[in-house]
Amino acid sequence: MPANAVNFKLLLALGYASGTYFIDEVLAKVVDPAGFQKLIYLLILRYPMKKYTSLLIVVVTIICACSSKKGQVTPTVPDTTASKGLYTYANFPVGASINVDLLRNNAVYTALVTKQYNSVTAENAMKFGYVHPAENTYNYTDADYLVTFAQKTGKRVHGHNLVWYIGLPDWVTNFQGDSAAWEQMLKSHIQNVVTHFKGKVVSWDVVNEGLNDDGTPRQSIWEQHLGTDYIARCYQYAHEADPDALLFYNDYGNEYSPSKRAAIINLVNGLKQRGIPIDGVGIQMHTNSNTSDQDIAAAITVTAASTGLKIHVSELDIAMNPNNIQTMTFTSAVASAQAVKYKALVKVYNSLPAAQKFGITTWDVSDADSWIAGYYKRPDWPLPFNNLYQPKPAYQAIIDGFN
Ligand code: XIL
Repeated sequence: MPANAVNFKLLLALGYASGTYFIDEVLAKVVDPAGFQKLIYLLILRYPMKKYTSLLIVVVTIICACSSKKGQVTPTVPDTTASKGLYTYANFPVGASINVDLLRNNAVYTALVTKQYNSVTAENAMKFGYVHPAENTYNYTDADYLVTFAQKTGKRVHGHNLVWYIGLPDWVTNFQGDSAAWEQMLKSHIQNVVTHFKGKVVSWDVVNEGLNDDGTPRQSIWEQHLGTDYIARCYQYAHEADPDALLFYNDYGNEYSPSKRAAIINLVNGLKQRGIPIDGVGIQMHTNSNTSDQDIAAAITVTAASTGLKIHVSELDIAMNPNNIQTMTFTSAVASAQAVKYKALVKVYNSLPAAQKFGITTWDVSDADSWIAGYYKRPDWPLPFNNLYQPKPAYQAIIDGFN
C-alpha cells in the first residue's frame, strides 16, 4: 500500500475516532506531506491520548513520510479525476464559481476545479465590497489569485459583477453627494475594475439583478440616485474601459416568473436597439426540484430566441429541498431526480445555436461549498459533486446532456 494510503486511513480513523467531521481538512492535507505532519501534531494536541499511543503515531508518521518518494506524492483521496474533465464532453465552455479561499487552501478542491472546468467565475472576489473596500482603495489580491490560476490552467475568466444592489461596502451606502457625484463614483468603479482586468477577463456581468420579480425596475441605491437608465450607462462605461470585453445582463427568476423574463428581454432588446453595447444574458438558474423542466426550458429557449444574444447559464444549482425539510436526507431517489433535471437542462441548452452558447457555470463546485444550505438554513445538495467532492449521479447526467 502506498505510504499516503496508510497516512490517509490513519487520519480517517483518527478523525472518526475523535468524533469530528473534518474530512475536507484531512483530504486537503493528505496530498501535502508537510501539511500532513502538521495535522498529526495538531491532532495529538487537540485530542490528547495516552503517551504511548501518541508516540506510536509519531513513529508511524515518520516511517510513512520517509517511505514516500520526495516530491512525488500519490494522492489517495477519493478519485474524482478518473473521468475526463466535464468540459471535455461539451461543445461550449463549462465552469463553476470559485471560492478563492478554497482554491488557495484545499488541494482536493483545486485539483477538481483544474480538471473539470474550462471557465471560472469569482463567487465573491470581484464584487464591489471586495475589490473596492474604501473610496480610494482597491484590493485585487483574491481576484488576481483566481485570474493567475485561470491563466496557468488555461481557463476563461468571466467577471462577476460590476454593479449590484447588495454586496456594497459601507462607504457606498453612506456616500453623500448629488447625482453627478454618484455617477462619477459608479463610473470610476466600473472603469477601474474593468481596466485592471483588461485582456484577462473576457466578459462581465455588468449589471446584476436590476429588476424585481414582477419585472419592474429594482429600487436599488443606484436607481434611486441615478434614475432607471443608469443601467445603459454602466454598459457604456464598461465598454469604454475594455472594448473587447463581452458584456452581460445577469439576473434570476427567468424560469419561474414569465413577467420577469419578459422584462429582462425587453431591457436587453431596448439596450441593443439604442446601440448600447450588450452581448449576452446571464440566466442565473438557481432552481430547484419544484420547478418544472418546461419552465426551465422556456427560460433558456425564449430568452435566446427573443434576444439573439449569447446565453450564459451563469449560476446553476438545482436545490432538492425547496420545502425546507430539516430532517431531509439525500437518498438515491433524490439523487436520480436531480440527475434527470440536470440532464434536461443541459440538453435544452445544448440545442441553442452554437454562437449563442456562452456556457454553463454552476454556482460553487460541491455540496460542501454551495451557498444554498447556509442561505436557506436547511440541508441541501444542489451541485453535481457531493460533500467529499465525489461526482453524484448529476455529474454523469450532465455529460449525457452534452450529447
Ligand atoms: C452569493 C455567494 O454565493 C455568497 O457566498 C455571498 O454571501 C452572497 O452572494 N446571485 C448572485 C451571486 O448573483 O453573486 C450570489 O452569490 C448568489 C445569488
